Amino acid sequence: MRKIGVIGGGLMGSGIAFHLSSKLEDSIIVHEVSEEAFTGTRQRFDRFGKNAMKRGADESTVGSWVNKIDYTTNVEDLTDCVLVIEAVYENLQVKQEIFRKLETVVNEKTILATNTSGISISEIGSVLTHPERLIGTHFFNPVPAMKLVELITGIHTSQETIEEIKMFCEKIGKEVVVSNDFPGFIVTRVGQAMMCEALRCLEQGVATVEDIDKGMRLGYNYPMGPLELIDLIGLDTELKIQQSLFEELGEVFRPSPVLKNMVAGGLLGRKSGKGFYNYQ
Ligand code: NAI
Repeated sequence: MRKIGVIGGGLMGSGIAFHLSSKLEDSIIVHEVSEEAFTGTRQRFDRFGKNAMKRGADESTVGSWVNKIDYTTNVEDLTDCVLVIEAVYENLQVKQEIFRKLETVVNEKTILATNTSGISISEIGSVLTHPERLIGTHFFNPVPAMKLVELITGIHTSQETIEEIKMFCEKIGKEVVVSNDFPGFIVTRVGQAMMCEALRCLEQGVATVEDIDKGMRLGYNYPMGPLELIDLIGLDTELKIQQSLFEELGEVFRPSPVLKNMVAGGLLGRKSGKGFYNYQ
């Protein structure tokens, strides 16, 4: 039996660990900063488990998936992992520090993956002695339900690493797309361009919130309109993403004053109860 490590048991790390355990025989180990952090991880496993049962899995099977997952606060316990997926905060220095340390404990063949949604893989990998085994595996939330993993290749990522990760994704039932290492990769860049344009339509009085969303839902067959989606993601998170894309890619991503004002006024979307729509 092989062992796979997940660093960070937050929203994405717990989703990844749960999904891997449900799809693979391999043992899964989650690394966190403290024992207390695992309380949240376990609660999320419960939630993913309940959702899996709603989709038809029985309770004992779900229990066996969760029981197969180990927990550690000691990075040395990841020594014999064949693959380690990092899913900690979106911060370059924190991620670099983790990979620098990780490289001293795993063997040369271990594949290292990061779940970053926007940081350059080449930059993260610049601290590694063997950056050829580092790759971006951008899972989507909620991991067990979302079909896609966006693979991002850094300047040094080897073809062997790409092929191995493609096979791994197939095994865990995910579809992949491969992006070179550019700001926003594919999905964030294209999706955000649409969301920025929807905000500009609102700003210029082209149409109402409801009609912009309805137009995109019915005109393009999208399951959700761009403004509804911003409410779901969170307006504060959106503003950060757009600011960073604006710095890297320019005018298309300039954050709209509409978005800035709403964030300043605490209208953050679903999580605050109000955004473009009212959830109270
Ligand atoms: P989160 O804040 O829910 O979880 C991060 C976890 O990492 C926390 O539990 C924290 O205790 C842990 N952590 C921090 N430093 C650590 C360390 N040195 N060692 C071990 N654990 C450590 O964050 P979330 O949302 O799960 O995001 C993780 C990554 O996934 C980020 O890079 C984010 O950009 C990316 N991402 C997030 C998505 C989302 O919808 N939230 C979607 C796709 C990617």
